[in-house]
Amino acid sequence: MKEKRSSFSNRIGFVLAAAGSAVGLGNLWRFPYLAAKYGGGIFLLIYIVLAVTFGFALMTTEIAIGRKTRLSCINAYGALHKKFAFLGPLSAIIPILIIPYYCVIGGWVIKYLFEYVIGNGAALADDAYFTNFITAANSGITGNPMTWFVLFVLLTALVVLFGVEKGIEKVSKFMMPLLILLSAVIAIYALTLPGSMEGLKFYLLPDFSKFSVSTVLGAMGQLFYSMSLAMGIMITYGSYLKDDDDLEKSVTQIELFDTGVALLAGLMIIPPVVAFNGGDASGISAGPGLMFGVLPKVFESMGFSSLIGIAFFLLVFFAALTSSISLMETFLSIIRDKLHINRTLAIALIVLFTIALGSLSCLGYGPLSDVTILGMAFLDFFDFFTNSLLMPIVAFFTCILIGHVLSPDVIIEETTKSGHAFRRRKLLSAMMRWVAPAIVLAILLGELAKYFGLLSI
Ligand code: PHE
Repeated sequence: MKEKRSSFSNRIGFVLAAAGSAVGLGNLWRFPYLAAKYGGGIFLLIYIVLAVTFGFALMTTEIAIGRKTRLSCINAYGALHKKFAFLGPLSAIIPILIIPYYCVIGGWVIKYLFEYVIGNGAALADDAYFTNFITAANSGITGNPMTWFVLFVLLTALVVLFGVEKGIEKVSKFMMPLLILLSAVIAIYALTLPGSMEGLKFYLLPDFSKFSVSTVLGAMGQLFYSMSLAMGIMITYGSYLKDDDDLEKSVTQIELFDTGVALLAGLMIIPPVVAFNGGDASGISAGPGLMFGVLPKVFESMGFSSLIGIAFFLLVFFAALTSSISLMETFLSIIRDKLHINRTLAIALIVLFTIALGSLSCLGYGPLSDVTILGMAFLDFFDFFTNSLLMPIVAFFTCILIGHVLSPDVIIEETTKSGHAFRRRKLLSAMMRWVAPAIVLAILLGELAKYFGLLSI
Protein backbone atom coordinates (compact mmCIF):
# COMPACT_ATOMS: atom_id res chain seq x y z
CA MET A 1 0.00 0.00 0.00
CA LYS A 2 1.19 3.44 -0.81
CA GLU A 3 1.82 5.65 2.19
CA LYS A 4 0.13 9.03 1.76
CA ARG A 5 2.78 11.72 1.30
CA SER A 6 2.46 14.61 3.68
CA SER A 7 2.40 18.03 2.07
CA PHE A 8 3.18 21.60 2.96
CA SER A 9 0.32 23.35 4.72
CA ASN A 10 0.38 26.28 2.29
CA ARG A 11 2.25 27.58 -0.73
CA ILE A 12 4.32 30.11 1.17
CA GLY A 13 5.50 27.31 3.47
CA PHE A 14 6.64 25.47 0.36
CA VAL A 15 8.39 28.53 -1.10
CA LEU A 16 10.18 29.27 2.16
CA ALA A 17 11.30 25.66 2.57
CA ALA A 18 12.56 25.41 -1.01
CA ALA A 19 14.26 28.79 -0.68
CA GLY A 20 15.76 27.53 2.57
CA SER A 21 17.31 24.69 0.60
CA ALA A 22 18.53 26.93 -2.18
CA VAL A 23 19.91 29.73 -0.03
CA GLY A 24 23.00 28.44 1.71
CA LEU A 25 26.76 28.38 1.67
CA GLY A 26 26.49 28.56 -2.11
CA ASN A 27 25.09 32.09 -1.88
CA LEU A 28 27.06 33.42 1.04
CA TRP A 29 30.42 31.72 0.77
CA ARG A 30 30.72 30.50 -2.83
CA PHE A 31 28.98 33.24 -4.85
CA PRO A 32 31.04 36.23 -3.59
CA TYR A 33 34.38 34.55 -4.14
CA LEU A 34 33.41 33.35 -7.62
CA ALA A 35 32.11 36.83 -8.53
CA ALA A 36 35.40 38.33 -7.34
CA LYS A 37 37.41 35.67 -9.14
CA TYR A 38 35.62 35.90 -12.48
CA GLY A 39 35.70 39.64 -12.99
CA GLY A 40 32.89 41.11 -10.84
CA GLY A 41 30.11 42.72 -12.90
CA ILE A 42 30.48 40.46 -15.92
CA PHE A 43 30.03 37.35 -13.77
CA LEU A 44 27.02 38.96 -12.12
CA LEU A 45 25.42 39.74 -15.47
CA ILE A 46 25.93 36.25 -16.87
CA TYR A 47 24.71 34.68 -13.65
CA ILE A 48 21.49 36.71 -13.64
CA VAL A 49 20.79 35.98 -17.32
CA LEU A 50 21.30 32.25 -16.70
CA ALA A 51 19.17 32.32 -13.56
CA VAL A 52 16.09 33.79 -15.24
CA THR A 53 16.34 31.54 -18.31
CA PHE A 54 17.97 28.19 -17.65
CA GLY A 55 17.57 28.27 -13.88
CA PHE A 56 13.89 29.07 -14.24
CA ALA A 57 13.29 26.28 -16.78
CA LEU A 58 15.17 23.60 -14.88
CA MET A 59 13.66 24.46 -11.51
CA THR A 60 10.12 24.50 -12.94
CA THR A 61 10.79 21.15 -14.62
CA GLU A 62 12.12 19.50 -11.47
CA ILE A 63 9.34 20.71 -9.18
CA ALA A 64 6.75 19.68 -11.79
CA ILE A 65 8.29 16.20 -12.10
CA GLY A 66 8.12 15.81 -8.33
CA ARG A 67 4.50 16.90 -8.09
CA LYS A 68 3.42 14.85 -11.08
CA THR A 69 5.02 11.61 -9.94
CA ARG A 70 4.72 12.14 -6.17
CA LEU A 71 8.02 10.31 -5.88
CA SER A 72 11.48 11.25 -4.70
CA CYS A 73 14.08 11.56 -7.44
CA ILE A 74 15.28 7.99 -7.18
CA ASN A 75 12.01 6.66 -8.62
CA ALA A 76 10.61 9.74 -10.35
CA TYR A 77 12.64 9.58 -13.59
CA GLY A 78 11.85 5.89 -14.07
CA ALA A 79 8.15 6.61 -13.58
CA LEU A 80 8.33 9.13 -16.44
CA HIS A 81 10.27 6.89 -18.80
CA LYS A 82 11.81 3.46 -18.18
CA LYS A 83 14.95 4.17 -20.20
CA PHE A 84 15.69 7.22 -18.04
CA ALA A 85 15.39 5.35 -14.75
CA PHE A 86 19.19 5.55 -14.42
CA LEU A 87 18.83 9.27 -13.68
CA GLY A 88 17.20 8.33 -10.37
CA PRO A 89 20.20 6.68 -8.72
CA LEU A 90 22.56 9.06 -10.53
CA SER A 91 20.91 12.20 -9.16
CA ALA A 92 20.40 10.54 -5.76
CA ILE A 93 24.13 10.02 -5.42
CA ILE A 94 24.73 13.78 -5.63
CA PRO A 95 23.13 14.95 -2.35
CA ILE A 96 24.53 11.84 -0.69
CA LEU A 97 28.04 12.87 -1.74
CA ILE A 98 27.51 16.57 -1.03
CA ILE A 99 26.10 16.35 2.48
CA PRO A 100 29.28 15.08 4.18
CA TYR A 101 31.50 17.86 2.89
CA TYR A 102 28.74 20.47 3.20
CA CYS A 103 28.60 19.66 6.92
CA VAL A 104 32.36 20.14 7.14
CA ILE A 105 32.03 23.73 5.91
CA GLY A 106 28.95 24.15 8.13
CA GLY A 107 31.21 23.10 11.00
CA TRP A 108 33.74 25.83 10.12
CA VAL A 109 30.89 28.32 10.30
CA ILE A 110 29.86 27.20 13.82
CA LYS A 111 33.48 27.39 14.90
CA TYR A 112 33.72 31.04 13.77
CA LEU A 113 30.39 31.84 15.39
CA PHE A 114 31.61 30.26 18.61
CA GLU A 115 34.86 32.27 18.59
CA TYR A 116 32.93 35.52 18.14
CA VAL A 117 30.49 34.59 20.91
CA ILE A 118 33.29 33.94 23.39
CA GLY A 119 34.86 37.27 22.40
CA ASN A 120 37.77 35.83 20.49
CA GLY A 121 37.01 37.64 17.22
CA ALA A 122 40.34 39.47 17.05
CA ALA A 123 42.23 36.17 16.76
CA LEU A 124 40.18 35.22 13.69
CA ALA A 125 41.54 38.25 11.90
CA ASP A 126 45.03 36.77 12.03
CA ASP A 127 46.33 35.75 8.60
CA ALA A 128 47.19 32.20 9.57
CA TYR A 129 44.09 31.50 11.65
CA PHE A 130 41.92 29.87 9.01
CA THR A 131 44.69 27.66 7.63
CA ASN A 132 45.80 26.64 11.09
CA PHE A 133 42.27 25.70 11.96
CA ILE A 134 41.40 23.65 8.87
CA THR A 135 44.71 21.84 9.08
CA ALA A 136 43.85 21.07 12.72
CA ALA A 137 47.06 22.69 13.90
CA ASN A 138 45.22 24.16 16.88
CA SER A 139 44.99 21.89 19.84
CA GLY A 140 42.09 20.92 22.08
CA ILE A 141 38.46 20.11 21.39
CA THR A 142 37.45 23.57 20.20
CA GLY A 143 40.48 23.79 17.91
CA ASN A 144 39.67 20.56 16.09
CA PRO A 145 37.49 20.84 12.95
CA MET A 146 36.08 17.34 13.64
CA THR A 147 34.28 18.65 16.73
CA TRP A 148 32.41 21.28 14.75
CA PHE A 149 31.73 19.01 11.83
CA VAL A 150 30.11 16.35 14.04
CA LEU A 151 28.12 19.05 15.85
CA PHE A 152 26.78 20.37 12.55
CA VAL A 153 25.76 16.86 11.44
CA LEU A 154 23.93 16.24 14.72
CA LEU A 155 22.11 19.59 14.61
CA THR A 156 20.91 18.86 11.07
CA ALA A 157 19.74 15.38 12.08
CA LEU A 158 17.79 16.77 15.04
CA VAL A 159 15.85 19.19 12.87
CA VAL A 160 15.10 16.53 10.28
CA LEU A 161 13.79 14.24 13.00
CA PHE A 162 10.83 16.59 13.45
CA GLY A 163 9.48 15.89 9.94
CA VAL A 164 8.42 17.93 6.91
CA GLU A 165 5.75 20.09 8.50
CA LYS A 166 7.42 20.76 11.81
CA GLY A 167 11.03 20.43 10.76
CA ILE A 168 11.53 22.27 7.51
CA GLU A 169 8.56 24.59 7.49
CA LYS A 170 8.85 25.95 11.02
CA VAL A 171 12.57 26.42 10.83
CA SER A 172 12.44 28.13 7.44
CA LYS A 173 9.62 30.42 8.45
CA PHE A 174 11.70 32.31 10.93
CA MET A 175 15.11 31.78 9.40
CA MET A 176 14.52 33.20 5.95
CA PRO A 177 13.25 36.69 6.85
CA LEU A 178 15.94 36.95 9.50
CA LEU A 179 18.51 35.98 6.93
CA ILE A 180 17.46 38.66 4.48
CA LEU A 181 17.18 41.32 7.16
CA LEU A 182 20.66 40.59 8.50
CA SER A 183 22.15 40.51 4.99
CA ALA A 184 20.66 43.87 4.13
CA VAL A 185 21.87 45.51 7.35
CA ILE A 186 25.43 44.26 6.87
CA ALA A 187 25.43 45.17 3.15
CA ILE A 188 24.28 48.74 3.88
CA TYR A 189 26.83 49.03 6.64
CA ALA A 190 29.57 47.79 4.33
CA LEU A 191 28.69 50.38 1.70
CA THR A 192 29.22 53.27 4.11
CA LEU A 193 32.91 52.39 4.38
CA PRO A 194 35.20 54.92 2.74
CA GLY A 195 36.62 53.48 -0.46
CA SER A 196 33.99 50.81 -0.92
CA MET A 197 32.60 52.57 -4.01
CA GLU A 198 35.45 51.21 -6.14
CA GLY A 199 34.45 47.75 -4.99
CA LEU A 200 30.81 48.47 -5.74
CA LYS A 201 31.70 49.52 -9.29
CA PHE A 202 33.80 46.40 -9.76
CA TYR A 203 30.95 44.26 -8.50
CA LEU A 204 28.08 45.86 -10.42
CA LEU A 205 29.48 47.26 -13.68
CA PRO A 206 30.26 44.59 -16.27
CA ASP A 207 33.68 44.86 -17.85
CA PHE A 208 33.19 43.07 -21.15
CA SER A 209 36.91 42.70 -21.71
CA LYS A 210 36.82 40.19 -18.85
CA PHE A 211 34.32 37.96 -20.61
CA SER A 212 35.61 34.43 -21.07
CA VAL A 213 34.30 30.91 -21.44
CA SER A 214 35.42 30.12 -17.93
CA THR A 215 33.21 32.94 -16.61
CA VAL A 216 30.21 31.22 -18.19
CA LEU A 217 31.34 27.83 -16.89
CA GLY A 218 31.80 29.25 -13.40
CA ALA A 219 28.40 30.94 -13.43
CA MET A 220 26.65 27.81 -14.66
CA GLY A 221 28.20 25.54 -12.05
CA GLN A 222 27.28 28.09 -9.41
CA LEU A 223 23.69 28.15 -10.69
CA PHE A 224 23.22 24.40 -10.17
CA TYR A 225 24.84 24.50 -6.79
CA SER A 226 23.09 27.60 -5.53
CA MET A 227 19.60 26.69 -6.70
CA SER A 228 19.92 23.06 -5.61
CA LEU A 229 19.29 21.93 -9.19
CA ALA A 230 20.19 18.74 -11.05
CA MET A 231 20.44 16.64 -7.92
CA GLY A 232 16.92 15.55 -7.19
CA ILE A 233 16.36 18.04 -4.38
CA MET A 234 13.70 20.12 -6.12
CA ILE A 235 11.98 16.92 -7.32
CA THR A 236 11.63 15.80 -3.73
CA TYR A 237 10.32 19.22 -2.72
CA GLY A 238 7.87 19.16 -5.61
CA SER A 239 6.56 15.79 -4.46
CA TYR A 240 5.26 17.55 -1.35
CA LEU A 241 3.62 20.46 -3.24
CA LYS A 242 -0.17 20.52 -3.46
CA ASP A 243 -1.85 20.07 -6.84
CA ASP A 244 -3.70 23.37 -6.77
CA ASP A 245 -0.70 25.52 -5.86
CA ASP A 246 0.69 27.95 -8.43
CA LEU A 247 3.96 26.40 -9.57
CA GLU A 248 5.29 29.19 -11.79
CA LYS A 249 4.77 31.80 -9.09
CA SER A 250 6.49 29.56 -6.54
CA VAL A 251 9.53 29.12 -8.79
CA THR A 252 9.76 32.88 -9.36
CA GLN A 253 9.70 33.53 -5.63
CA ILE A 254 12.29 30.86 -4.81
CA GLU A 255 14.60 32.30 -7.49
CA LEU A 256 14.11 35.81 -6.17
CA PHE A 257 15.09 34.69 -2.67
CA ASP A 258 18.10 32.76 -3.88
CA THR A 259 19.46 35.36 -6.28
CA GLY A 260 18.61 38.20 -3.89
CA VAL A 261 20.63 36.69 -1.05
CA ALA A 262 23.55 35.95 -3.38
CA LEU A 263 23.55 39.58 -4.58
CA LEU A 264 23.39 40.83 -1.02
CA ALA A 265 26.23 38.51 0.00
CA GLY A 266 28.35 39.93 -2.80
CA LEU A 267 27.45 43.44 -1.64
CA MET A 268 28.50 42.77 1.91
CA ILE A 269 31.75 41.04 1.00
CA ILE A 270 33.21 42.49 -2.21
CA PRO A 271 33.06 46.31 -1.69
CA PRO A 272 34.65 46.23 1.78
CA VAL A 273 37.31 43.78 0.66
CA VAL A 274 38.23 46.10 -2.21
CA ALA A 275 38.06 49.10 0.13
CA PHE A 276 40.52 47.54 2.53
CA ASN A 277 42.73 46.64 -0.36
CA GLY A 278 43.28 50.33 -1.03
CA GLY A 279 40.50 50.50 -3.62
CA ASP A 280 42.26 48.07 -5.94
CA ALA A 281 39.86 45.43 -7.23
CA SER A 282 42.46 43.54 -9.21
CA GLY A 283 44.49 42.71 -6.13
CA ILE A 284 41.85 40.96 -4.03
CA SER A 285 42.61 37.36 -3.29
CA ALA A 286 39.45 35.58 -4.39
CA GLY A 287 39.56 31.98 -3.28
CA PRO A 288 37.38 29.71 -1.12
CA GLY A 289 38.96 31.30 1.93
CA LEU A 290 37.53 34.76 1.09
CA MET A 291 34.72 34.68 3.61
CA PHE A 292 36.65 33.00 6.43
CA GLY A 293 40.00 34.66 5.83
CA VAL A 294 39.14 38.21 4.87
CA LEU A 295 35.86 39.05 6.56
CA PRO A 296 37.06 38.79 10.16
CA LYS A 297 39.82 41.24 9.19
CA VAL A 298 37.27 43.52 7.60
CA PHE A 299 35.01 43.32 10.65
CA GLU A 300 37.97 44.09 12.89
CA SER A 301 38.82 47.25 10.98
CA MET A 302 35.16 48.27 10.92
CA GLY A 303 34.89 48.34 14.68
CA PHE A 304 32.01 46.53 16.45
CA SER A 305 33.74 43.37 15.27
CA SER A 306 32.10 41.04 17.78
CA LEU A 307 28.63 42.29 16.98
CA ILE A 308 29.06 42.11 13.23
CA GLY A 309 30.91 38.81 13.49
CA ILE A 310 28.16 37.20 15.54
CA ALA A 311 25.43 38.56 13.25
CA PHE A 312 27.20 37.48 10.09
CA PHE A 313 28.18 33.98 11.13
CA LEU A 314 24.79 33.41 12.70
CA LEU A 315 23.25 34.27 9.36
CA VAL A 316 25.59 31.97 7.47
CA PHE A 317 24.94 29.23 10.00
CA PHE A 318 21.14 29.51 9.53
CA ALA A 319 21.49 29.42 5.78
CA ALA A 320 23.86 26.44 5.86
CA LEU A 321 21.60 24.57 8.25
CA THR A 322 18.45 24.91 6.13
CA SER A 323 20.42 23.68 3.11
CA SER A 324 21.86 20.70 4.93
CA ILE A 325 18.36 19.93 6.22
CA SER A 326 17.18 19.73 2.62
CA LEU A 327 20.11 17.52 1.68
CA MET A 328 19.34 15.18 4.56
CA GLU A 329 15.59 15.21 3.81
CA THR A 330 16.33 14.11 0.25
CA PHE A 331 18.69 11.40 1.46
CA LEU A 332 16.04 10.28 3.94
CA SER A 333 13.22 10.03 1.42
CA ILE A 334 15.50 8.03 -0.90
CA ILE A 335 16.37 5.55 1.84
CA ARG A 336 12.77 5.23 2.99
CA ASP A 337 11.36 4.79 -0.52
CA LYS A 338 13.92 2.05 -1.13
CA LEU A 339 14.40 0.28 2.21
CA HIS A 340 11.05 0.91 3.94
CA ILE A 341 12.66 1.37 7.34
CA ASN A 342 11.43 3.74 10.00
CA ARG A 343 12.41 7.39 10.04
CA THR A 344 14.53 7.31 13.20
CA LEU A 345 16.56 4.30 12.13
CA ALA A 346 17.06 5.85 8.68
CA ILE A 347 18.29 9.10 10.22
CA ALA A 348 20.70 7.22 12.50
CA LEU A 349 22.16 5.43 9.47
CA ILE A 350 22.51 8.71 7.60
CA VAL A 351 24.33 10.31 10.53
CA LEU A 352 26.80 7.42 10.68
CA PHE A 353 27.40 7.55 6.95
CA THR A 354 27.79 11.34 6.93
CA ILE A 355 30.31 11.31 9.76
CA ALA A 356 32.27 8.47 8.20
CA LEU A 357 32.54 9.99 4.73
CA GLY A 358 32.74 13.60 5.93
CA SER A 359 35.73 12.78 8.13
CA LEU A 360 37.77 12.34 4.96
CA SER A 361 36.93 15.88 3.82
CA CYS A 362 37.30 17.26 7.33
CA LEU A 363 40.76 15.78 7.84
CA GLY A 364 41.80 16.16 4.21
CA TYR A 365 43.71 19.40 4.76
CA GLY A 366 45.42 18.18 7.92
CA PRO A 367 46.26 14.59 8.91
CA LEU A 368 45.10 13.22 5.55
CA SER A 369 46.69 15.89 3.40
CA ASP A 370 49.03 13.35 1.83
CA VAL A 371 46.07 11.50 0.35
CA THR A 372 44.65 13.12 -2.78
CA ILE A 373 42.29 12.00 -5.53
CA LEU A 374 43.18 13.24 -9.02
CA GLY A 375 45.48 15.67 -7.28
CA MET A 376 42.74 17.16 -5.10
CA ALA A 377 42.12 17.10 -1.35
CA PHE A 378 39.01 15.10 -0.45
CA LEU A 379 36.73 18.13 -0.03
CA ASP A 380 37.79 19.66 -3.34
CA PHE A 381 37.40 16.33 -5.06
CA PHE A 382 33.81 15.81 -3.82
CA ASP A 383 32.95 19.38 -4.85
CA PHE A 384 34.46 18.88 -8.30
CA PHE A 385 32.96 15.44 -8.85
CA THR A 386 29.41 16.47 -7.93
CA ASN A 387 29.36 20.03 -9.24
CA SER A 388 31.39 19.79 -12.41
CA LEU A 389 30.64 16.27 -13.47
CA LEU A 390 27.49 14.66 -12.04
CA MET A 391 25.22 17.74 -12.04
CA PRO A 392 25.84 18.69 -15.68
CA ILE A 393 25.24 15.05 -16.68
CA VAL A 394 21.93 14.90 -14.82
CA ALA A 395 20.87 18.31 -16.19
CA PHE A 396 21.73 17.27 -19.72
CA PHE A 397 19.71 14.04 -19.61
CA THR A 398 16.81 15.81 -17.90
CA CYS A 399 16.73 18.20 -20.89
CA ILE A 400 16.85 15.30 -23.35
CA LEU A 401 14.09 13.45 -21.50
CA ILE A 402 11.77 16.45 -21.19
CA GLY A 403 12.75 18.32 -24.35
CA HIS A 404 12.88 15.45 -26.81
CA VAL A 405 11.86 11.99 -25.55
CA LEU A 406 8.73 13.24 -23.80
CA SER A 407 7.74 16.84 -24.47
CA PRO A 408 7.91 20.14 -22.59
CA ASP A 409 4.09 19.90 -22.71
CA VAL A 410 4.29 17.37 -19.87
CA ILE A 411 5.74 20.09 -17.66
CA ILE A 412 3.43 22.79 -19.02
CA GLU A 413 0.37 20.59 -18.35
CA GLU A 414 1.55 19.95 -14.80
CA THR A 415 1.97 23.67 -14.10
CA THR A 416 -1.41 24.59 -15.56
CA LYS A 417 -3.48 21.61 -14.43
CA SER A 418 -5.35 23.40 -11.69
CA GLY A 419 -6.15 26.40 -13.86
CA HIS A 420 -3.07 28.51 -13.24
CA ALA A 421 -1.65 30.49 -16.13
CA PHE A 422 1.88 29.67 -17.26
CA ARG A 423 3.30 32.79 -18.83
CA ARG A 424 6.79 31.61 -19.68
CA ARG A 425 5.84 28.38 -21.44
CA LYS A 426 7.70 29.32 -24.65
CA LEU A 427 10.83 30.12 -22.69
CA LEU A 428 10.61 26.78 -20.94
CA SER A 429 10.19 24.86 -24.19
CA ALA A 430 13.05 26.59 -25.96
CA MET A 431 15.31 26.18 -22.96
CA MET A 432 14.61 22.50 -22.35
CA ARG A 433 14.74 21.56 -26.02
CA TRP A 434 17.77 23.39 -27.38
CA VAL A 435 19.44 26.13 -25.39
CA ALA A 436 19.99 24.38 -22.07
CA PRO A 437 21.27 21.04 -23.40
CA ALA A 438 23.68 22.88 -25.72
CA ILE A 439 25.04 25.02 -22.89
CA VAL A 440 25.31 22.08 -20.52
CA LEU A 441 27.12 19.97 -23.05
CA ALA A 442 29.54 22.82 -23.70
CA ILE A 443 30.16 23.14 -19.97
CA LEU A 444 30.69 19.47 -19.48
CA LEU A 445 33.14 19.17 -22.33
CA GLY A 446 34.77 22.44 -21.31
CA GLU A 447 35.28 21.24 -17.73
CA LEU A 448 36.68 17.93 -18.85
CA ALA A 449 38.97 19.53 -21.42
CA LYS A 450 40.13 22.04 -18.84
CA TYR A 451 40.76 19.30 -16.33
CA PHE A 452 42.75 17.14 -18.69
CA GLY A 453 44.78 20.15 -19.71
CA LEU A 454 43.43 20.39 -23.27
CA LEU A 455 42.10 23.88 -22.70
CA SER A 456 43.49 26.69 -20.64
CA ILE A 457 40.48 28.98 -20.21
N1 PHE B 1 21.91 25.32 -2.68
C1 PHE B 1 22.53 25.39 -1.41
C2 PHE B 1 23.51 26.50 -1.33
O1 PHE B 1 23.48 27.41 -2.10
C3 PHE B 1 23.25 24.21 -0.96
C4 PHE B 1 22.92 22.96 -1.53
C5 PHE B 1 23.79 22.43 -2.42
C6 PHE B 1 21.78 22.34 -1.12
C7 PHE B 1 23.53 21.24 -2.94
C8 PHE B 1 21.49 21.16 -1.64
C9 PHE B 1 22.38 20.61 -2.54
O2 PHE B 1 24.34 26.51 -0.49
